Amino acid sequence: MSHQVPAQPKKSRVDLQAMVDQGEKLVMVTAYDAPTAHIADAAGADIILVGDSLGNVCLGFENTLPVTMAMMRHHLEAVARARPNAFLMADLPFLSYHLSVEDALRNASMLIRVGAQAVKLEGGSSRVPVIRALVDAGIPVMGHLGLTPQSLHSIGGYRVQGREETQALSLLEDAKRLEGAGCFSVLLECVPKELAAIVTKTLNVFTIGIGAGSNCSGQVLVFHDILGIHQGPDPKFVRKYMDGFNQMVIALSKWSDDVKNGIFPSEQESYNLSEAVLEKLSVRFQGTRISDS
Ligand code: KIV
Repeated sequence: MSHQVPAQPKKSRVDLQAMVDQGEKLVMVTAYDAPTAHIADAAGADIILVGDSLGNVCLGFENTLPVTMAMMRHHLEAVARARPNAFLMADLPFLSYHLSVEDALRNASMLIRVGAQAVKLEGGSSRVPVIRALVDAGIPVMGHLGLTPQSLHSIGGYRVQGREETQALSLLEDAKRLEGAGCFSVLLECVPKELAAIVTKTLNVFTIGIGAGSNCSGQVLVFHDILGIHQGPDPKFVRKYMDGFNQMVIALSKWSDDVKNGIFPSEQESYNLSEAVLEKLSVRFQGTRISDS
């Protein structure tokens, strides 16, 4: 049996846990197509997530609920074709793991077949049977607790979770149940940093935080948020490292001006006929100006 050896060894789930055990913080970032995957990989991300945030970030939906398996597959395949060195994960979208364990297995295995090394799903104790079945089938699962955008309507909005004692205890209990079911990691979204610290200390598997303070084993942010590639207010937990939207508008406007003013393309940006062909064409199209050089 022969295996294709990638140019650089791809990070594995085991590598990630080893990095955490050695005290290294993990960096996870979303990507939705080949260019964003190349950029994330070149920047040294440990984990690339093809998140269902692709619904609002790339596809113009208001939230993640309209995202389907077909959309996830389409974008995951593009990311996988970039052959990132980072560990590649994909979200199971809304209703792709809620109807039955068989459905969850079919959908998760499709994401694995097209290049994901793990899947992420939202929810607590009620997800245990599905997680057990996926893990049993050899599919690594990251849990997702706290603010779970797929439950937007039952949560009642994008707000911090686990502020009250009972909510906090229930989140901790859920985290332990997810670990017990076989999750290799738990993502904590929008929870108080002290609670995230307790969860991280309690679990043996690593945590990834987004809006969960600095005590998680690693951090994730959405690609477009870090680079400022959208307009509108950002949540408090986003740190923007460039004003991508305006920088891109400025660059495109300069090109547009150059086109309007006839200074794009230049000679260097054009292809030329050979003298011989030019000569023949000039004879044939006498009177027609076919070259301005
Ligand atoms: O889909 C997504 O972008 C997420 C974030 C929590 C990173 O799940």
